[in-house]
Order: sequence, then C-alpha cells, then structure tokens
Amino acid sequence: MTDLNTLESDVLAQVAGAADLQALDAVRVAALGKTGSISGLLKTLGAMSPDERKERGAAINALRDRVQSAITEKKAALEAAELDARLARETLDLTLPGPYRRKGSVHPTMQTMDEIVSIFAEMGFAVAEGPDIEDDFHNFTALNFPEKHPAREMHDTFFFNRKEDGERMLLRTHTSPVQVRTMVSEKPPIRIIAPGRTYRVDNDATHTPVFHQVEGLVIDKGIHMGHLKWTLETFLARFFETDAVTTQFRPHHFPFTEPSAEMDVQCDRSGGEIKIGQGTSWLEILGCGMVHPNVLRACGIDPDEYQGFAFGVGVDRLGMLKYGMPDLRDMWSSDSRWLAHYGFSGFAAPNPASGLS
Ligand code: PHE
Repeated sequence: MTDLNTLESDVLAQVAGAADLQALDAVRVAALGKTGSISGLLKTLGAMSPDERKERGAAINALRDRVQSAITEKKAALEAAELDARLARETLDLTLPGPYRRKGSVHPTMQTMDEIVSIFAEMGFAVAEGPDIEDDFHNFTALNFPEKHPAREMHDTFFFNRKEDGERMLLRTHTSPVQVRTMVSEKPPIRIIAPGRTYRVDNDATHTPVFHQVEGLVIDKGIHMGHLKWTLETFLARFFETDAVTTQFRPHHFPFTEPSAEMDVQCDRSGGEIKIGQGTSWLEILGCGMVHPNVLRACGIDPDEYQGFAFGVGVDRLGMLKYGMPDLRDMWSSDSRWLAHYGFSGFAAPNPASGLS
C-alpha cells in the first residue's frame, strides 16, 4: 500500500506546484494519460487474484478519483488567476485623452429643426407631438383619404403586420396626423407646429426612408389663405436670414386641404448654388392649404364656425438649402468628418434674439 500513498502524495504535490495550465496538463497526462502512472497501475489488476483485485482495484480507483478532482480544482484556480492577470494587464484608463479628440456637434437637421421651432415659437405657435407609430385613422382616414384611395398607395407606407383584430399599424408618412391629434384633444383657437420624424419607402439622392417634417396648424374664426401666405413668407425670410422672400402658390392636391397648394420660393441658381431671396428661378419648398371641412368634422370641429390652414415643410431639405449640403444621404452617413464640417456647437441654441445660425 505504501507505493500508492507515495504515488498519491507525489502526484498531488505536482498538481499543487503546476505554475500554469500547460504544466498542469503535463501532470495530468503523466498520471492519468494512456501510459500514465495511475493508468499503469490499473493495468496490473488483470494479473491479480480476484480477492487481491477487489481490494487493490478499489484503492487505485479511489486514488484516481482524488487525483482527478485535485486537477479539476487546480485548473479552475489557474483559469481564474489567468483571467485576473489578463484583466489587470489589459486595463484601459478611459479618462485618459485619446490621441485625437473630435468635439461632438449638433447635426444640421437638428439645428434646422431648432431654428424652425424658435421662429414659430416667437410667432406664438406651441409645439405639439405625436407618435411615430400611427394607426390608419390618424395617418389617413381622419385626414380625408378615402378607403382604397390611390393617395394611400402614393405615400409608400411602411406597414406593420396585421394585429389579431386585423388592424395594421404603420410608420407615419407625414406629420399631419398630429393635426388630427391636436384638434381632437384641444379646442380652437389652435396654433401649433409639430416637428418630427416621418417615414416612406423611398431611397435616392433626394429621398431617405426616414426624414423630418414640421407641420403647422392654425384653427380660428375667419382664417384665410392670406394668413397662410403671410405666416409662411415671414417664416421663410427669417429662416433664410433675408429681409424678404418672394413666394408663389402653385395649385396642388392634398386630400386634407382645400384649396391645396405647393409654395415655391424665388431663388437664384446661376452660380452653381441656390441663393434664396434673389434671382429668377422658383424652388418648391412646402405643401399647404386650408384645412378641409371633412377633416374639421372628423375631429369634432364645426367647419361653419371655424376655419384653418395647415402646412408641412421638409426639414432636411430646408437645412440642405440653407447650409449648402448637396446630397441628402450624407445626412445619415454618420461620417464624423462630415459632422465636424457641417455640425453646429451644442452651446449655441438658436433663437431669434441672439441669431439663428
Ligand atoms: N402632409 C403633406 C405631405 O407630407 C404636406 C402638407 C401638410 C400639405 C399640411 C398640406 C398641409 O406631403
């Protein structure tokens, strides 16, 4: 029996002394491997008498189990030590300055949004918001899009899968549903703008699947197209930081306004870039019109008592025009060089008193 005790204390000492996983594995192979010392002992059992084999076999197997569990335990300890060492070795001090520091900046779209909001806020408009995920009622039906009307298809809508009750939610195709939400929840007079993200299945140099609009809505007694035109011209002159802009209404169709128009602003395209407030060209800039009586009715407002106007402006497009960015897709590329060039300081919140841009 002494040989077993000696062997065990030998092997256990080697296990305890193994400096790393590789050394430990060598110990394991030398003891428990095919030609290992303990495996060798097990092979001698065949030549023994049954009585001897019973006693000796049990002893050797118990020895093997103890060695095996010592190795398993040591392995876990070595792995933990190795991980600790690696964590210590690879520690990064994140408070140290990197080799190159780029300051964060406000994205031109958000800057444009802030400018638009600040101009309308000064003109007495409140900011309203609505969800990006809309239902058919707010995005279409209440806005006087008849069931199965082709205009619904024209909007290239992103639809969600139908719910159990058959209803299909969608990503709002415009900010106009916020008109509906506001008229349903507030009593006239109403004077709001609604900035936000909008979504359409569309992707080229002048369209991205996500874009931004600002909706405007005014509801009161005796509102007419003249109010609309003055509001938009005043806004555009302030936005483009010129004394005055010249605009024209072009007849158009939207189901939710009657009459409907697109507004063009006079500009100069002669020098390769577009200059607003001068020149002989026209640039389409927004959609607008007088709120359709059906929309007022759908929202519980009596069209014989109240009238209103609405407009929708593409924010990304206005920003591109003002800041001379040629390709809409760059706005989404997250290229830090582009952001460093076109971005704005986060400390210079635009307002009409201290300057817009
Ligand atoms: N919702 C329209 C669009 O996205 C724009 C619009 C808004 C037109 C309000 C008229 C009135 O094209």
